[in-house]
Amino acid sequence: MKLSLISVLLLTLLGLVSCSPKTPVKINLVPKPVELVEMNGTFVLSAKSKFEIAGNEQLQELKDYAQKIIQERTGFQLTEGEGAGLKFELIEDEELGEEGYLLSVNKNGISIAANTPAGLFYGLQTFRQLLPSEPADEVVLPYLEIKDYPRLAWRGLHLDVGRHFFSVDDVKRYIDLMSMYKINTFHWHLTEDQGWRIEIKKYPRLTEIGSWRKKVGFEANQEKGLNVDDGKPYGGFYTQEEVKDIVEYARLRNVTVVPEIEMPGHSMAAMVAYPELYCFPDEKLEVRTEGGVSNGVYCAGKDETFEFLQDVLDEVMALFPSEIIHIGGDEAPKTNWIKCPLCQKRIKDEHLQDEHELQSYFIKRIEKYLNSKGRRLVGWDEIMEGGLSETATVMAWRGVTPGIEAAELGNDVIMTPGTPFYISCPQSINKVTKHDGTVNTMRDMYEFNPVPDELTPEARKHIIGVQACHWSEGTPNQKILEYKVYPRAIALAEIGWTPQEQRDWDDFYKRVEQHLPQLSFYGVEYGQRSYDVKINVVPDKDHKTIFAEFITEVPENVYYTMDGSEPIQTSPVYDGTLEIKATGTLKARMFRPDGSAGRLATQEVNFHKALGKKVQYNIPYSTKHDGGGDYAMTNGLKNKWQGFEKRNVDFVIDLGEATEFSKIETNWYYDINDWVFRPLEVKYELSDDGENFETVYESTHVNAKDVYDKGTLNLTKEIENGKARYIRVTAKNPMVNPAWHSSAGGATWLFIDEVIVE
Ligand code: ACM
Ligand code: ZN
Repeated sequence: MKLSLISVLLLTLLGLVSCSPKTPVKINLVPKPVELVEMNGTFVLSAKSKFEIAGNEQLQELKDYAQKIIQERTGFQLTEGEGAGLKFELIEDEELGEEGYLLSVNKNGISIAANTPAGLFYGLQTFRQLLPSEPADEVVLPYLEIKDYPRLAWRGLHLDVGRHFFSVDDVKRYIDLMSMYKINTFHWHLTEDQGWRIEIKKYPRLTEIGSWRKKVGFEANQEKGLNVDDGKPYGGFYTQEEVKDIVEYARLRNVTVVPEIEMPGHSMAAMVAYPELYCFPDEKLEVRTEGGVSNGVYCAGKDETFEFLQDVLDEVMALFPSEIIHIGGDEAPKTNWIKCPLCQKRIKDEHLQDEHELQSYFIKRIEKYLNSKGRRLVGWDEIMEGGLSETATVMAWRGVTPGIEAAELGNDVIMTPGTPFYISCPQSINKVTKHDGTVNTMRDMYEFNPVPDELTPEARKHIIGVQACHWSEGTPNQKILEYKVYPRAIALAEIGWTPQEQRDWDDFYKRVEQHLPQLSFYGVEYGQRSYDVKINVVPDKDHKTIFAEFITEVPENVYYTMDGSEPIQTSPVYDGTLEIKATGTLKARMFRPDGSAGRLATQEVNFHKALGKKVQYNIPYSTKHDGGGDYAMTNGLKNKWQGFEKRNVDFVIDLGEATEFSKIETNWYYDINDWVFRPLEVKYELSDDGENFETVYESTHVNAKDVYDKGTLNLTKEIENGKARYIRVTAKNPMVNPAWHSSAGGATWLFIDEVIVE
């Protein structure tokens, strides 16, 4: 209906178009508060509303911050003084603790009360989420009462600035965004093999030399278009003045900055600057340009090492008020220590069993030093190897098991298992590239409980926090950083904040979806992939028919086509069964609540004689790269690679009955840089009884001495009048990366996607 001007005027006079009574904003909060009650009635906030702070002069900075937020979101500021509007008040309420708050909206306006400025800050963040994402003269707020406080004390987000450097502004923005979600700890990974990033006045070469590498490196990124190697040195560091500025910026946002100074490993950059700290100073050392684990390990036999580290920590402690200091401790190969006379002397003098006890000696000696200065130590879970001190806090990253062990020992623990908490891993349920590695979807993260049920009640108290880590090998800039971190960091925030029994994925993802415009308001180009679809093909139990399966993170309709056209909202909706009857292309997608389309998933299905047939593995595939699991070889799907890590391939396909065919084809993916090699030998064998096999095909292959060699090896065998029930495929794995490889000795992979029988 189109209204004429006259009728609009009339309706306005009658009060029908002038939205009265006004509809209040929708309450949609992340993380979800502990208690929220919505009531009848609304309060209208506008420039005429008053802003009052009761009882504390030191809250001035919080008032300025609040005005800035209201201004940026609505376009107006509040008038300072007493009256209906926004009121901050410091109170005493034991239940709220250090970070909790009360937020109420009633006829007097909005009141935020807390024991501490931190609590007021969090009340303000909740209030911020009630504000519009576009300019408004007034904001209509529903009457409500919120009581809120966190589940865990340490809600952390980590950033590796070694592999790629992020500017002071980038770091501030990282902190600002995390504070919106009540994440209170910024774990700043400041030193690495690929660059030392913090100015230490006593050791200027750390930044003069150690903060630079000869090129940007990470060659795989060039291929993905993430980086351009311009042939120039790559580096950067933070001056002490900049560090102070960042720490102060974080303080206002209730974010504790925990610096990490890695030791004894991941420290090649420091030893390039000061080779005397290395076991073998005459070796040629370089700041690393690729990832992985290096030999950049401080000599544990030299007292100079400890003097150096104590001096560094003195300057670090002067900059960071955090009581807890991270000393790394992960991935320190013992290769040098085994060979170094000084390290061996230390083992003997200190009556240590081996190099693992030497690592423990190293960490404990540093811990003692930190303790003598009133600080506490946190380290990656390798600090448990060779004996954990009673007082260290353990950051569990290699799964939850080390965290459980440490908590049972009575040590405090922060849970950050790489699966699902490495937020730099791909986020789509549908892996994008052939070799994406671990995928941590937002749902994987959200559904993780950092306080495992098997813990004793006493040990549970030692799980003090949860954290997501961002490693920057594949993240050259802030835009990509935010794409990876948001919105998954909101899942982390809710895990750390909201009581476990109140967390529910179906409710959470809908709130996130509603919240996304607020992230957009702040210019975050988040990478939400929750509406991606993964296509699988599985046989029925008799291996006679095969079905497509659509796997999704969110329980919403999947629309699909099989005729090559793009699915739209009138296409068929997947109802749980979809039989595949011919070679063709499956396309599927979901639609967001606003009608916009999620990403299109496309999958070619090859209809062939082994399709859906049972596979008997004489050697199991790797669960890290299962390519679709037990039917990966016969599910009709190409480019879904099944991996065999440091083991040969040997499996038998049972066609169910003697079957005629004229061709057997396999494809093998290799990417030498990624430790995936060509098989050295491949054999196809046929059998009628599953016991006596006859070889019908054999081939041998050589891998080029070139880490950038990658491609697919197609092995097709035409067979005249082929007939058999069983087909066996075997392949020989080189087992370890050869001596010339940048990761010599690492476990070599074979990758195969399908056995096509026609
Ligand atoms: C780690 O991922 N090496 C802590
Ligand atoms: Zn040594």
